[in-house]
Amino acid sequence: MFRAILTSRLQAAFTTAGIDLPEGFTPGVVIASDTRFGDYQSNAAMILAKQLKTNPRALAEQIKAALQVEDLCEKITVDGPGFLNLTLSPAALAQRLSVIVKDDHVGVPQVEKAKTIAVDFSAPNIAKPMHVGHIRSTFIGDSLARVARFIGHKVITDNHVGDWGTQFGMIIHGWKTQLDQSKLKADPIHELVSVYKAVNAAAKADEAVLEICKGELVKLQQGDAENLGIWKECVRLTLEQLEKVYGALDIKFDHYLGESFYNDALAPLVAEMLNQGIATISEGATVVFSDGSVKPENDPFLIRDKDEWKPAPCIIRKGDGGYLYATTDLATIDYRVKEWQADEIWYVVGAPQQLHFRQVFAAAQRRGITTKMIHIAFGSILGPDGKMFKTRSGETVGLLEVIDEAIERARTAADEKEQGLSDTEKDEIARIIGGGSVKYAELSQNRLTDYKFSWDKMLSLQGNTAPYLLNAYVRTRSIFRKLDGEVTLTDDLAITEPAERALAMKLSQFAENAHDILDDHRPNLLANYLYELADTYHSFYEACHVLRSEGTARNTRLTLCEATSRILKTGLGLLGIQTTERM
Ligand code: ARG
Repeated sequence: MFRAILTSRLQAAFTTAGIDLPEGFTPGVVIASDTRFGDYQSNAAMILAKQLKTNPRALAEQIKAALQVEDLCEKITVDGPGFLNLTLSPAALAQRLSVIVKDDHVGVPQVEKAKTIAVDFSAPNIAKPMHVGHIRSTFIGDSLARVARFIGHKVITDNHVGDWGTQFGMIIHGWKTQLDQSKLKADPIHELVSVYKAVNAAAKADEAVLEICKGELVKLQQGDAENLGIWKECVRLTLEQLEKVYGALDIKFDHYLGESFYNDALAPLVAEMLNQGIATISEGATVVFSDGSVKPENDPFLIRDKDEWKPAPCIIRKGDGGYLYATTDLATIDYRVKEWQADEIWYVVGAPQQLHFRQVFAAAQRRGITTKMIHIAFGSILGPDGKMFKTRSGETVGLLEVIDEAIERARTAADEKEQGLSDTEKDEIARIIGGGSVKYAELSQNRLTDYKFSWDKMLSLQGNTAPYLLNAYVRTRSIFRKLDGEVTLTDDLAITEPAERALAMKLSQFAENAHDILDDHRPNLLANYLYELADTYHSFYEACHVLRSEGTARNTRLTLCEATSRILKTGLGLLGIQTTERM
């Protein structure tokens, strides 16, 4: 990991040179944006010179003299107003390359202090339509969990499904009066959602229906055997179908602790919060008010109304005794902290729930919880027309529909290409390309911006897409297929050509990128890196003969291909995208 090593050497150089670092200043090294002067760069001398009021170039020269990097760099220069530029030596790059092709983690260092991180993602609601937010959450959450695990954290994934709530009053009434058993068998999620929609509409039109639904809900909450049985069956059928989808997408959860899991914890939790003085009774409800500990603009329990800050309490028990989403989330935090000793909890949930999480986190902190809780928010997915994303039949889109259609489209494309692959092989390739394309379209975006969903774009072999990256991987593999396994790579490496150097440089940067992804929880950094890697590989492939070269050059080039192959596979894997040897 060059950047980290160079940074620590730079810091050591300040000590050697006898330059005291002012409080709060840590000199750093970054990858050079303009590689004409070097591979890495530091502007530390310039920043420090300003503070010390000395000449930046002279200071840079002083640091340069003290800097010990002969083992890594062939050149150090002071340029412009006082930049330190560092150029890696071919030997150092070659050495990295050997590590990449041998190491289980392709040269990515493990974190020094592993944390236990609970990742809360996907979490659709049973018997309610799944929306695109669940798609984004599923892919982003899965990828972040993979990255965290890969760099050495202990990760616990939990699907906090919405398996309890007022929708069940309607579902139970619908189940008893209008359920179509054969449709339920064929596609349970679809049938439950359409029953829910029908009853919901009927309840809106007719007060009497609404009352019946409320009655069914109360019976369920009081433990009525029949209603509990129906509820359990709804949950079971939905999870069964969901698990198939997750399976096709290669997504696994360590736990499925849905909202209902916390039912028994809610009453004691609210009682405790009242006891602790964190919650109070207000107009019959139990709520958490601001404690005035932070500035109003940072206080989630206040809302601005013209020139005044008014209370915006978080309700944890309604006047009628019902508990809320926030109550369940507070109980869930207790569980994750107590049972899992979570150091961090990540919530991959859409931006509209920001206030909810700010309130829940603040309330939990007031209860003495020190676990770091992070809301990893994201924007919406839009249809190609820039409006709400709809399916072909005009419905709002859920994960199931999107994945089915993606696989179907990829299957058609595979059929058109026809290249001596069996039907089973084509099915498998279509599953990988279809699912991978949808995931990649998501993960290559900045999670906070809205993005347009376009089948043509995401399935294209050109551009920043999964098929493009998968194709680059297939290319690296085809070289080794041609060699029929007759190849043993050695450490006899010499990086001489600019295209070889550029590729080796790009490959070595994976070790840095993998850690950076979690700084701000952005899988798109990884996606963009892989895209650039694929591009760099293509240029290398154009410029340098691999199979027609000989001796050290051939070994070096094959090692570059192997390293590219391994990093593409690993990197795509961290995005949750499987690779295929042919396509
Ligand atoms: N089921 C919720 C929804 O669909 C998402 C749950 C997110 N996780 C949580 N702990 N609140 O909006």
